[in-house]
Amino acid sequence: MFSRQLARRVVLRVPRRWSHSPAGLAGLNSVTEEDLAHFAKILPSSSILSTLSPSATPSSELEPFNNDWMDKYHGKSTTVLKPRTTQEVSEIVRWCNQRKIGIVPQGGNTGLVGGGVPIKDELILSLANMAKVRSFDDVSGILVADAGCILQSLTDYLAPHHHIVPLDLGAKGSCQIGGNVSTNAGGLRLLRYGSLHGSVLGLEVVLPDGTVLDQLTSLRKDNTGYDLKQLFIGAEGTLGIVTGVSILAAPAPQASNNVMLALPKFENVQPLYKEVKRQLSEVLSAFEFIDRTVYDLAVKHGQGRALNPQDIEGAECFVLVETSGGNREHDEQKLNSLLESLMLAEEPLINTGVLASSPAQFSALWAIREGLTEAVSKEGKAYKYDISVPLNKFQEVVDKTREHLRSKDLLHENAVKYVVGYGHVGDGNLHLNVVAAAYTPEIEAALEPFVYELVASYKGSISAEHGIGVMKTHALQYSKNPTSIEWMKKIKALFDPNGIMNPGKVLP
Ligand code: FAD
Ligand code: MLT
Ligand code: ZN
Repeated sequence: MFSRQLARRVVLRVPRRWSHSPAGLAGLNSVTEEDLAHFAKILPSSSILSTLSPSATPSSELEPFNNDWMDKYHGKSTTVLKPRTTQEVSEIVRWCNQRKIGIVPQGGNTGLVGGGVPIKDELILSLANMAKVRSFDDVSGILVADAGCILQSLTDYLAPHHHIVPLDLGAKGSCQIGGNVSTNAGGLRLLRYGSLHGSVLGLEVVLPDGTVLDQLTSLRKDNTGYDLKQLFIGAEGTLGIVTGVSILAAPAPQASNNVMLALPKFENVQPLYKEVKRQLSEVLSAFEFIDRTVYDLAVKHGQGRALNPQDIEGAECFVLVETSGGNREHDEQKLNSLLESLMLAEEPLINTGVLASSPAQFSALWAIREGLTEAVSKEGKAYKYDISVPLNKFQEVVDKTREHLRSKDLLHENAVKYVVGYGHVGDGNLHLNVVAAAYTPEIEAALEPFVYELVASYKGSISAEHGIGVMKTHALQYSKNPTSIEWMKKIKALFDPNGIMNPGKVLP
C-alpha cells in the first residue's frame, strides 16, 4: 500500500510584505487625439479602434479588448491598434516610447492572470491582423509564423503535412502562438513535447524603442553566446512585442488513443502514474488529473459524460491517459494490457474506465478535460491558482484550502461554492480553483496570502504555467528570491527604460 509522505513545513521567519497596488504606471501618458493622428499615418483606419475623435468608435467595441476571459480584470483603454506588419508594430512602438505611452500587447486574450488587458488606459496593441504562416519545411519540421496566428489554425495548417504544433491547450481556438510564447504556455502534452523553451527555435521581437530584434533563426543548434530569445519566452509582453515565431513542429502521431479512469481515492494517482509510465513508456503522451467535484461540474455544464454514473459511484477522482505512437496495433496492445493488469490487480488502483473506441469518443473524452475551465466559469467566478506542488500534495492543497474557507465561514452558496482541483500530473502542476458566487475582497483576503504561504510550505511555485500578469506581482516573492527579482528588474530597465511595455505586469 502506498504511503503518503509528511509535508515538510518551512517556517517563514521573515513576514512577507503584502500589498496589491500595481506599480509601474507612474509617469506614463494617455493616448491623445494628436497620437491618433500620428497612428493614422502608419495604419489604415480599419486597423484603428478608438473612442477618441476622429475615430469615435463606440466604447462597446473596445470591451472585448478591455476585459479578460474571466471577466475579472477590466481596463479602460481608449485605443486598440491592429498592425499588419512588423514594420507597423515598430513604428507604433517607437512613437509610444517617445511619448511615454504604455502598451499592452494582446493576443487571443485568453490569459488567466490579467496580463493581456490594461490596468488603466494603456494602448492595446492587438496582433490579430498578423496571422500568416511564413514558411514550413516538412523535412526539418520547422514552422515560421506571424505571432498572431491562432494555435488551432497552425494545427490545421500542419495536418496535411503530417506534423503537429508541440503544444495543445483548451484555448486553442482563440489563443495565438505569440501569446503562447509570451506566457510560456504549458498545456496538455508538455509531458511528451516539453516546454516552449525547448521547441521555440527563434523569435522576431519589436523592442520597446521600436528596434526589430531579428532572432528568427530556423536552426536546431546555435551556440553563439547568450540565447536572447529565451528572455521573451514567458516575459508576458514586458520586454517587447513578439511578431514572429520559429517553432519545431513534431511529426503527427500515426495512432492516438485515450482512456478515462475512475479512481476510488486520490492516494492511487501516484502509484497509477508510476505504473502507467512503466507500461506505456514511449507511447504515453498525457496524464491528466480531474477531481470528482470538477468532473461533476463538467458533466453538469454539458462538457460531456465520460463514464456511466452508476459505474463511478464512490469514485474520488479521475485521470485521462493518452497514448500517441507510430503503430496502432502495438500501442493498443500496450494500452489494453495496461487496463487488463489494472482491473485484475489484487488491490486495484482504479474502479473502472472507458477506452475510446472511435475518433468521436476520443474527442469526447478530451472535451471533458479541456472543458473544465469553461465549466468552472459557467458555475461562478473562479479564483484560479495555477501552482506547482509535489504530486502527492495535490489533494491536501485542495482540502486545506476548503477547510480554511470553511473556518472563515465563507463556504456556502453566497460566497464560495466549490473548491476544486485538476491539472497536469506529469508536470506536477495543480490548478486549484475556488468557485465563488462573485469576486469579493473578503474572499480574496481569505485566499491570499493563505494559498501562497501553503505553496511556499511545499517549496512549490505560485505560477506553474499561466504566468504572473497583474494577479500575482505582489506574490512573486514567494517563488523568486530578492536577488532574482533584483536582476529581473535590471533586465526590464535595460530593455525598457521608460517602462512602457505592459506596465504593472510581472514585476512588483
Ligand atoms: P493573451 O491572453 O492575449 O496574453 C497573455 C500575455 O501575453 C499578456 O501578458 C500579453 O500582454 C502577452 N502577449 C500576448 N501576445 C503577445 C505578443 N505577441 N508579444 C508579447 N506579448 C504578448 N495556459 C496554459 O499554460 N496551459 C493550458 O492548458 C491552458 N489552458 C487554457 C484553457 C482555457 C479555456 C483558457 C481560457 C486559458 C488557458 N490557458 C492555458 C491560459 C493562457 O495562458 C493561454 O490560453 C495562452 O497562452 C494565452 O495566449 P493568448 O494569445 O490568449 O494571450
Ligand atoms: C488547464 O489546464 O485546463 C488550463 O491551464 C486552464 C485552467 O487552469 O483552467
Ligand atoms: Zn493547465
